Amino acid sequence: MTFEELEAMCKACTKCPLHQTRTNCVFGTGDPHADVLFVGEAPGEKEDLSGIPFVGAAGKLLDKYLEAVGIDRGRVYIANILKCRPPQNRDPKPEEQEMCIGYLREQVKLIRPKIIVCLGRISAMRLIDPGYKITKEHGTIVKKGGFSMTAVYHPAALLRDPRKKEDMLTDMKKIKSYIDEELGIDVALE
Ligand code: URA
Repeated sequence: MTFEELEAMCKACTKCPLHQTRTNCVFGTGDPHADVLFVGEAPGEKEDLSGIPFVGAAGKLLDKYLEAVGIDRGRVYIANILKCRPPQNRDPKPEEQEMCIGYLREQVKLIRPKIIVCLGRISAMRLIDPGYKITKEHGTIVKKGGFSMTAVYHPAALLRDPRKKEDMLTDMKKIKSYIDEELGIDVALE
């Protein structure tokens, strides 16, 4: 399957009830050959309306961190665990994650990133470890299934609790150094 075929399949998906309330399926954005994949939780209102992940308030904050550490958003790939918005931005239900995760799995197979950066607890619990403790483990880089993996606070959590912002900057700097030095990947802004 090509990336385009997968995207078309995902956009036509009716596997779970979230398709009934979506404006757009938010498949993902960026370089489909990226070495760095960021994975958030689920689209919010702005994402649902535009079809693009991380374009609302949390997305704008994510952009600031990417810029601050010198990562070009166009040279990475950004996706979510869920491709459709849960009503009122509630947490994704386990059964919704179960039905949607196959799309992310196929994206990972096609993109073949070297590092996956989970944005927030829900993504880290799904992709790294069901018992992941974001407050303790954020910024720690582990190897899993042939990938380097890590998690940082979700940008929306930083908007709720600005005291976490310092840790976020430290983590993002560490991840950028790891990308540069350990993985030897160039994701810098031109
Ligand atoms: N929060 C997410 O987890 N993903 C988005 O795309 C937007 C907000």
